[in-house]
Amino acid sequence: MLTRRQLGIGLLAFAAPVRGAIAGEKSVLTVYRTPTCGCCKAWGSHLARAGLSTTIIELNDLAPTKRRAGVPDAYEACHTGLIDGYFVEGHVPAGDIRRLLAERPTARGLVVPGMPVGSPGMEVAGVKPEPFQTLLIATNGSASIFANH
Ligand code: CU
Ligand code: CU
Repeated sequence: MLTRRQLGIGLLAFAAPVRGAIAGEKSVLTVYRTPTCGCCKAWGSHLARAGLSTTIIELNDLAPTKRRAGVPDAYEACHTGLIDGYFVEGHVPAGDIRRLLAERPTARGLVVPGMPVGSPGMEVAGVKPEPFQTLLIATNGSASIFANH
């Protein structure tokens, strides 16, 4: 029979490694952003609230990272996330990232082009959110609709 104290320690040991991780995953999203970007920080807060683990790397020039990750020029946004071989470009909702990792399509990654008002991290008080789409970028660089928001 475990004492209350032993049980407490056991639970802590179990909880620590999975805190903030995607359910059943240890994947961490590495987010590349510029130090002065406010909406990038707001997107990071959205991911944290949704329970996604992130590592933030601040760089003054994200272009080399985007090129390496295979983000097509036409779809470049303010920040770039990398997770499990995929890029996550722009204000992509956490739910779409979870779906990407669950379905694991053969693709380069996800992008929300532009900075749609109302997308995660782009909420503006008193301004009606605009509909936006998350696009899946295929291995050949072409885009298809992944989700409508
Ligand atoms: Cu932004
Ligand atoms: Cu950003």
